[in-house]
Order: sequence, then C-alpha cells, then structure tokens
Amino acid sequence: MRHLMSPLDFTPQELDRLFDLANDIERNPAEYAHACEGKILATCFYEPSTRTRLSFESAMTRLGGSVIGFADAASSSASKGESVSDTIRIISCYADICAMRHPKEGAPMVAAEKSDIPVINAGDGGHQHPTQTLTDLLTIRSLKGRLENFTIGLCGDLKFGRTVHSLIKALVRYDNIRFIFISPEELRVPDYITEMLKEKGIAFEEVIRLENVMPNLDLLYMTRVQKERFFNEEDYVRLKDFYILNTDKMTLAKEDMLILHPLPRVNEISVEVDSDPRAVYFKQAKYGVYVRMALILTLLKTAERKDALC
Ligand code: NCD
Repeated sequence: MRHLMSPLDFTPQELDRLFDLANDIERNPAEYAHACEGKILATCFYEPSTRTRLSFESAMTRLGGSVIGFADAASSSASKGESVSDTIRIISCYADICAMRHPKEGAPMVAAEKSDIPVINAGDGGHQHPTQTLTDLLTIRSLKGRLENFTIGLCGDLKFGRTVHSLIKALVRYDNIRFIFISPEELRVPDYITEMLKEKGIAFEEVIRLENVMPNLDLLYMTRVQKERFFNEEDYVRLKDFYILNTDKMTLAKEDMLILHPLPRVNEISVEVDSDPRAVYFKQAKYGVYVRMALILTLLKTAERKDALC
C-alpha cells in the first residue's frame, strides 16, 4: 500500500503520469465521474483549512465517492486524549483512504505506519505539504509546458511556510532550476534546505528586496506570514506586511512571469493584481482539485484507464 508523506514519494516519471492523468480529468471530467463509486475518503483535519480539505472533498465527490471526517481537533476524540495511531485504526474501519492535516510535524507519518488504508499528508506543522506541491507543479507544468529551466522567486515566510519547503524539495529534481529566496532576515529559509542545495550544487541566492530581483523571475511564489507558528504577536505584527505585491511592482516583472500563491492571501498581494493575466493563484486552486482526483485514483488503484499510475 502506498501513502503520500512527501512530494519525493513519487519519482519524477510517476509525477509526470499523475499530471497527465490530472490533465485528462480536466479535459474529460465526465469519464471519471463514477471512478470512485462506493469508496469513502476520510478527511481528518486537526488544524484549520479551507482549500485543502474542501478540495479533497470536492475531488472525491467529483469521482463519485463519499466523504466523512472532521474539520478540527476539538470535534474529534483527540480532545478526549485519543492518539493519532488509535484514531487511524478506527478510520481504517470506516474509510478507504484518508487525508490528514496535523499541527505536529510527522503525525501523518505515525498514522501511516498504523494504517490499513492509504494516508495522505495534507500538511504537518511547518514541515511538508505534498499535495500543495503537486498542485503547484501541475499548475506550472500546465501553464508553462515544462518543469525545467526556471528562475523561481519564493517570497514571504520561508521559515515557517511548509508549502515552500515541500516545493523546493520537489523542484531540485528538475534541470536548471535557480532559486531566489526573498524574505526578511527573521523568516529566511531553514538551514537544512540551504545546506541541501549547496550539497547538490543548485544555484540559489537570498535577498530582502523583492523589487531588485523581480525582472529576473520566471515564476514568483508568494506566501503569507504564518501567524499561527509565531511565538509572539509582536514579531508577527512587525513582519506581516513586509511584502505587498502591487501593480507598480508588477511593471518590473517579465511579460510571461507567473504569480503563484498557495492561498490564503492576507495582505501580501493587493487585490488589484488579481486581474493581471500573470496572476494564476485562483487557477492554481482549480488545479488542486484535478491533482487530488488523480492522486486519490492512483492511491486507490481504481483507475481503470491505462494511463493511470498503478
Ligand atoms: C497553505 C498551508 O496550509 O500550509 N494553505 C494551503 O493549504 N493552501 C498555506 C498557508 O496556510 O499559508
């Protein structure tokens, strides 16, 4: 049985097949409308979420399956002291596949070890967010036609942003990717990531001012400052509006640069930027449903089409 804990759990070739399947679902949704009939997805969310949980639920519903679950720890037996290991054993009796989000790094992995059904890490603390990475990669591949030869700027909270950590890990496997990390000093990308890039000989630079590097970027990945992971409110308030992408700054960007954002947005992108054709973050959310449909099909091995992974 296969779980998804990290974006590296799939080889680049497997990812290509997953993305081909997602693109096929996008073109021919009716062909997949009954693919998961009789199957149940459990969404176990111990941390707030709008997009990830609802996109999983939408994905399973669009495949003809059903969904059960809880949206916060307070309404689950975690509030009575039940362990994640016990909860997943019970969920395994009720569902065929589980998407789990947890504030503690590694919790979905603990669940996967005890589970009889595939477990998908839907975000664990500040660590990883592999299905957001699948969403990001599918968006880039679908709109740019490739996953190689890019200069990508990642901007905002690079310290606590799990989507950033997962995306960097996934992108290093593609040729000729150059990273520009744009953050205030306090929110720099963790050392383990820069060490990994140095070891692999991958080009990266760290800067503070977005304007200075804007003209060099093929992709700009904006992120919000992760309020919930700060130890004190004062630091959050000081850093939360450090970057605000507006139409003035967009004049410095390439004509075909894409702006991505995992969302939710707070203030880091002005709403006036939304109408710029380079702003693709709402399209990105749509790709999130297609890729989760492809993932559910793949992990459940219910895809009958020959282009499915398993
Ligand atoms: C992200 C997350 O939960 O890490 N949201 C999401 O799943 N799209 C990003 C964030 O919360 O800033």
